[in-house]
Amino acid sequence: MCGIVGYIGSKNAYSILIKGLHRLEYRGYDSAGIALINSQNNLNIYKAKGRVSDLEEFSQGKDISGTIGIAHTRWATHGEPSHINAHPHYSQSENLALIHNGIIENYAILKESLKQKGYIFQSETDTEVLVQLIEYIKTINNTDISTAVQLALKQVIGAYSIAVIEKENPDLIIAARKSSPLVVGIGENEFFLASDASPIIEYTNKVIYLDDEEIAVIHRNEPLRIVNLNNVEKTPQITQLELSLNELEKGGYSHFMLKEIFEQPRTLRDCMSGRVNVDSNNVVLSGIIDNKEKFINARRIIILACGTSWHAGLIGEYLFEEFCRIPVEVEYSSEFRYRHPVINPDDVIIAISQSGETADTLAAIELAKQAGAFVYGICNVVGSSIPRNTDSGSYTHVGPEIGVASTKAFTAQVAVLVMMALNIAREKKTISEEQFLSVLSELSKIPSKIETILQQNNYIEDLSKIFTYAHNFIYLGRGYSYPVAIEGALKLKEISYIHAEGYPAAEMKHGPIALIDNEMPVVVIATNSTTYDKTISNIQEIKARNGRILAIVNKSDYKVKEMADYTIEIPDTEECLSPLLSIVPLQLLSYHIAVKKGRDVDMPRNLAKSVTVE
Ligand code: M6R
Repeated sequence: MCGIVGYIGSKNAYSILIKGLHRLEYRGYDSAGIALINSQNNLNIYKAKGRVSDLEEFSQGKDISGTIGIAHTRWATHGEPSHINAHPHYSQSENLALIHNGIIENYAILKESLKQKGYIFQSETDTEVLVQLIEYIKTINNTDISTAVQLALKQVIGAYSIAVIEKENPDLIIAARKSSPLVVGIGENEFFLASDASPIIEYTNKVIYLDDEEIAVIHRNEPLRIVNLNNVEKTPQITQLELSLNELEKGGYSHFMLKEIFEQPRTLRDCMSGRVNVDSNNVVLSGIIDNKEKFINARRIIILACGTSWHAGLIGEYLFEEFCRIPVEVEYSSEFRYRHPVINPDDVIIAISQSGETADTLAAIELAKQAGAFVYGICNVVGSSIPRNTDSGSYTHVGPEIGVASTKAFTAQVAVLVMMALNIAREKKTISEEQFLSVLSELSKIPSKIETILQQNNYIEDLSKIFTYAHNFIYLGRGYSYPVAIEGALKLKEISYIHAEGYPAAEMKHGPIALIDNEMPVVVIATNSTTYDKTISNIQEIKARNGRILAIVNKSDYKVKEMADYTIEIPDTEECLSPLLSIVPLQLLSYHIAVKKGRDVDMPRNLAKSVTVE
């Protein structure tokens, strides 16, 4: 979703800002823009529809000087992607420029009132309303920009992270956030601003994550000030970044997605490190141990998430019910937040999110907290909003995930859920020692088993050629393989734009079977499980209707191999861990099909990496 970058210091701002925008490209966007104040105090704005490279082309030959500036990638909400609607937006006098992520919900009322005061609007955006409002308040109150921003934000309903610069004040950036992330980087006599740490890391590892309704007053050559909307001064909390620049680069792979698929053996080792100990036969998550009683006495677990994280949550449901004997509900955050859910104080809420910034999940967490429930987060991005707004949690530790299609974050979320289930089940004594040890030992072998699957990359690439021209796909699985089926289908549709649906295999005959003919590829996850024979019956039903079957099977399988048109083998493992293996070939299949179709794999159309608006 939209990205913000800002710089103030002694260097040329343009190149830092453009580089920063490139780093934020993974978030998804449709236009880009930049505002710079030059040494003659001219405030220049350049914008372009399309990519950051289009903005660079547009800026060629223009005055791009200046040591202060703000820049933006826009993901359209109010008004189509266009040059006019792209940020930054000028105020009416062209004295202010503002960039904004989020949605101003009451923009229409504010706009109408400003129009009546003589303000003329160029764009259809809610953002332009905010910059005009700030200018209006500044003028009528004859106040400074910082105060005007505070007063304006008090009138705003909605979510925002903003950065404003003022022509007459070339030594100052004002930035603020509410429900949309913003990070200030502190360098040597210079400051950086960004939606996440990726544009900042190559300059400094000292950052401050702004909290809701905080305003950063970033003055050249002065210490950073943080105030709230009532101008009460807050002490800036400096965090040390542990991100490395290598993690933000493709490292020889053609796409971030491929790199991230291949990283999974390492990311899973990192995720389990210090938590799984096979020698002492133990698994310990500090967040679980610290809150042991909450989990042992939980009346129910409610898992909140969106997209791929929701699919991981479904696997969590199977795990917690099987091993911990706790009833589980898995909810789309967007539905949960608006449907008056019954939440009890002894419910445990688990919120899953790669980015830690998903607006619907944040709102759902807030609702659960208000009802007195204990909220546990499973997140990847360290310091993001969800870990800061939950009672406790576990990080997945997979490093930055840049590809819009989530891969390594998914497997690590599942690994954390497995570790949680084992940890709780042992404390609760709902798992036999034999089963505990067997799952634990298999869990520790998962990274090397994924390595053997990745060795089949060329074979899967060849296989993908057969399916590149399909218009529809069906994915089927049962039990632990059902969430894998819907995750596999999501991966394919996201990046190849081929329509794909995932179903529990037994649901086939309740409707989707009508779609089966000799042009319909059906991907069946037919690995060893308690419902293996039932899945075989489902495969027979598809064969009887001439469907083309690609089956994910275990190495030891012989039945499905005889029936399926194509198979991909994965190593044998415990049933509850099979999603960690079976998803990998499906990630590779989607990737290769999308590449063959010439799709923009890392930045698929219309998608944003973190969905920070409703
Ligand atoms: O950052 P989150 O995990 O909260 O994001 C949730 C979804 O937006 C995300 O999983 C989305 O579905 C991905 N594009 C899936 O690949």
